[in-house]
Amino acid sequence: MKVILDLDTGIDDALALAYALAHPNLELIGVTSTYGNVTVEQGVRNTLALLELLGAPEVPVFLGSERPGFRVQPISAFIHGANGLGQVEIPAPRRGPAEATAVDFLVSSFARYGEDLTVIPTGPSTTIAAAMSSSPEFARQARIVMMGGVLTVPGNVSAWAEANVSQDPEASDAVFRQGGNITMVGLDVTLQTLLRANDTARWRRTETAAGRAYAEMADYYIRAYATTSPHLGGCGLHDPLAVAVAADPSLVTVFDTNLKCDTTGPTRGRTIGDETRLADPLKTAHVAIEVDAPRFVATFVDTLEEYFQA
Ligand code: RIB
Ligand code: CA
Repeated sequence: MKVILDLDTGIDDALALAYALAHPNLELIGVTSTYGNVTVEQGVRNTLALLELLGAPEVPVFLGSERPGFRVQPISAFIHGANGLGQVEIPAPRRGPAEATAVDFLVSSFARYGEDLTVIPTGPSTTIAAAMSSSPEFARQARIVMMGGVLTVPGNVSAWAEANVSQDPEASDAVFRQGGNITMVGLDVTLQTLLRANDTARWRRTETAAGRAYAEMADYYIRAYATTSPHLGGCGLHDPLAVAVAADPSLVTVFDTNLKCDTTGPTRGRTIGDETRLADPLKTAHVAIEVDAPRFVATFVDTLEEYFQA
């Protein structure tokens, strides 16, 4: 299966990037860059640098657009570090982004690969909404497996809102209303999938540059979670779980519905069923509400360990 990642390259996005490269059933054909954990420019820089570290310098990286007035939130800098990668220094990339825009790449890739392509957004929905608005075919037919949103538990930036969706609720609402095939991998499941220090120790023991850097980044993330969410006992594998579900939907149980995102009032950023489409027999969203966490975490840690060693 061909995949495109739409990343706001912080630490769990970096983990998702490595997993997409390492996964035996996925072919990463490109990365589009969005903002969120970092600016678009920092995200591009991080993605290019990580692709070189991971031995995949040929994968193209495309610039998405930033929401006007965007500023990196202090909580993002705390969780992901000021550089988005837990203050781990990755050598500067030797190339820049591709010339085409993220939207053009998404739409043209769907025109070329159709149902063989899955798009995996792991940041705010701004670029995906722009691609949907520029191509009704992309909107109706492209398979999107997104990390973002939450349905059955509280949010992580407010009582209602998950971080990615909170950055651009209008874009998320447009994606839910226009998209014909959306799988939402939200906090309902990602906070059940936890990475711990004994897992990252295995990556460090590979004694490779990538293994060491990924262990350092993930340990930074685990320490941040120990401060903000000590009850979890690890860090949430948000973005890597979306990659895993794209490759193997049997990892999760889904609830089919039609989603919307509140854009006004005190619940701005809440992802919830659209009451105006409640009786519509066609359900365009598949919300992951249960996950086989042990199977996912074990496979994820093993696969990256083998990839770093190779
Ligand atoms: O809420 C979790 C999401 O917010 C993840 O995508 C993480 O990278 C942050 O952007
Ligand atoms: Ca992310």
